[in-house]
Amino acid sequence: MSTPLPSSSLSLLNLFPLTLPFHCFSLPPSASHSRSARSFCVQTTTTAITPAPYSASGSDQALLLLLRQRKTDEAWAVYEASSPHHLPNSTCLSRLVSQLSLQNSPLSLARAQSILTRLRHDRELHRLDANSLGLLAVSATKSGQLPYAASVINSMLRSGYLPHVKAWSAVVSRLASSPDDGPVLALKLFKSIVRRVRKFPDPEMVRDSMPDTAAFNNALNACANIGDTKTFLQLFDEMPELGLHPDILTYNVMIKLCARCNRKDLMVFVVEFAIQKGVPFCMTTLHSLVAAYVVFGDLETAEKLVQALREGRRDLCKIMREANDEASREDDDDEDDEDENGNVDDEAVVFEKLLPNSVEDGNETEPPLLPKSYSPNSRLYTTLMKGYMKQGRAADAVRMLEAMRHQDDQASHPDHVTYTTVVSAFVKVGAMDRARQVLAEMARIGVPANRITYNILLKGYCQQLQIDKAKELLMEMTGNAEIEPDVVSYNILIDGCIKVDDSAEALSFFNEMRAKGIPPTKISYTTLMKAFASSGQPKLAHKVFDEMLKDTRVKVDLVAWNMLVEGYCKIGLVQEAKRVIENMKENGFYPDVATYGSLANGISLSRKPGEALLLWKEVKDRCEARKGEKNSEADSVVPRLNPDEGLLDTLADICVRGAFFQKALEIVACMEEHGIPPNKSKYKKIYVEMHSRMFTSKHASQARQDRRKERKRAAEAFKFWLGLPNEYYGSEWRLDPLVEDRFL
Ligand SMILES: *[C@@H]1O[C@H](CO)[C@@H](O)[C@H](O)[C@H]1NC(C)=O
Ligand SMILES: *[C@@H]1O[C@H](CO)[C@@H](O)[C@H](O)[C@H]1NC(C)=O
Ligand SMILES: *[C@@H]1O[C@H](CO)[C@@H](O)[C@H](O)[C@H]1NC(C)=O
Repeated sequence: MSTPLPSSSLSLLNLFPLTLPFHCFSLPPSASHSRSARSFCVQTTTTAITPAPYSASGSDQALLLLLRQRKTDEAWAVYEASSPHHLPNSTCLSRLVSQLSLQNSPLSLARAQSILTRLRHDRELHRLDANSLGLLAVSATKSGQLPYAASVINSMLRSGYLPHVKAWSAVVSRLASSPDDGPVLALKLFKSIVRRVRKFPDPEMVRDSMPDTAAFNNALNACANIGDTKTFLQLFDEMPELGLHPDILTYNVMIKLCARCNRKDLMVFVVEFAIQKGVPFCMTTLHSLVAAYVVFGDLETAEKLVQALREGRRDLCKIMREANDEASREDDDDEDDEDENGNVDDEAVVFEKLLPNSVEDGNETEPPLLPKSYSPNSRLYTTLMKGYMKQGRAADAVRMLEAMRHQDDQASHPDHVTYTTVVSAFVKVGAMDRARQVLAEMARIGVPANRITYNILLKGYCQQLQIDKAKELLMEMTGNAEIEPDVVSYNILIDGCIKVDDSAEALSFFNEMRAKGIPPTKISYTTLMKAFASSGQPKLAHKVFDEMLKDTRVKVDLVAWNMLVEGYCKIGLVQEAKRVIENMKENGFYPDVATYGSLANGISLSRKPGEALLLWKEVKDRCEARKGEKNSEADSVVPRLNPDEGLLDTLADICVRGAFFQKALEIVACMEEHGIPPNKSKYKKIYVEMHSRMFTSKHASQARQDRRKERKRAAEAFKFWLGLPNEYYGSEWRLDPLVEDRFL
């Protein structure tokens, strides 16, 4: 009898009335005539749309009592027992959803969501107030169900509710630093809320929903993560309009933006800007700076900054300016690079607006001093140490560790992060035994290793194919050290199993992880798919893919699609692979060079050279596709394909074997065009082995002989390209080992 509603749609929240407490806007009489306010809110008179099919009952009173006593689980039991026949009133339901959400456990979240689902189904969603929905969104965010959280906030907005800033800002914050289009969605959500609150003539009315500095920092962080300078500037300029002041975190995010846009030179101006504005400094900023220099691989400047801090100096800006001067002197030796796209110029202009102090005005100002001196802590040292590690300087990392141990102040003594960095330095150079010694040392001096330390070691063992050692370590981890493995640990182990071709063990780790209630990530799914794909079990890979589709926490991406294609191609199931590719196109994913590479291998394996011609046609079109021009249609333009050696070589190989010499010539031309040297001796060998006796039969029909003539012409051209004797040279082609030697 029930027509199920699409689960993604929460649009029935539109039925919210305005008689509820918390954030719905029961407008003061004076404001109720305000046009903008009225258009924004659902009219109270529309409340009683659907008469409730449930009878009021005394059980509401019992339910409310339990909730007031914070006996949420008992309250749930009461709700559930009476649920088929009775729907509690809005006070009880809102409170139940709120308290379940506040419990922040997967079970209670699922319960709260089930109430929402039921109300949606019964068209009774208006029984929930804004507060409970906001809390539900926060709870879903915390458990990583970001699409759900965002959809709750969005439907609240559609229904004329404004969530509390703490609620919506939590969703924006998590989206901002999540992968895929997370930052973009974060900005969309942020903008739509700010647009709404700014429409209100009286800010007091929407005070609790107004963005604060922390909310802006979250949105700015989203911009920094995707390098969107324009939006960053726009939001930064909007802060004072709302009476908000940037704080030191804002400037930290700005440093991140500079780093993301490869503008090392601008970081000093962010610091100077913050000093000029008198923003209170904190160690985090100095840490972000040193970390940024480390990421740029400029350990020299990072060392200088740390050293200056050790000496109690405050002239860090001077050091950074000197580093800039030095870098620009080096640049002057080179030709000025032409900007390859217009973007760079735009970006430079935006940065000039964002950091007006970075523009030279002819007056050389002295770089300002830090407001006070800060002594480096172990976090700062450790960051520098990570720089050494990245450059493979294990000896320097250990030297640093020794120096830190002998520091007088406790704050700079090595901590678990420092030790973990050293562990990771040893793992990186494959010195697993020394890495284990550091772990033992940590236990000895009472700096306990944490999950990250163990994960690094697990990874080291897996990379060295020592899965047994990895399993031993896992036992030690959960046993003595009492550290539960997380999704990263399991991803490492699953990947390790693939490295030793043990897909059964990979699956058992995957299942063990799920049994422990650890939700798989995108990497878990694609890694497991890889296990099945590489062991020739595409059906199982497909099953994993289907599970991934169902899991709302993760997004199926190109990597997952490619793994599916690879699974089928690995055992030559070309038709299945092509179906998957059609499917992925319908889902908005363009095959890339990896997809086509797998398909080419599959075609080669299944010995269906005809398929190679179809594939080559598609690849050729994609290579020639004009680069997406920068206009509004950019999205609809098929992205140009940049073919690699693997793909083209496989295609050429198939064509030479199949005697499609015309196509083979096209492909090698394409290789040369893309700077890929074709392996002539390989094709020569194939040609000699397979086709040297071609075109010798004299007993064929005329039509057949004509077709042959055509192919022969192509064959001669191909031979010419190979440098084999051919008609153009007029030399005799003989199958003679001596000749072969001479030409190969
Ligand atoms: C819901 O029921 C409880 C208990 O009977 C009562 O105290 C409360 O006022 C009711 N709320 C509404 C909105 O009717
Ligand atoms: C340069 O500095 C001098 C003295 O501090 C000041 O008088 C002058 O206006 C400044 N010029 C510019 C272009 O800022
Ligand atoms: C060319 O192919 C042959 C095998 O056919 C291989 O032995 C040789 O290493 C390849 N050359 C290059 C440069 O890849």
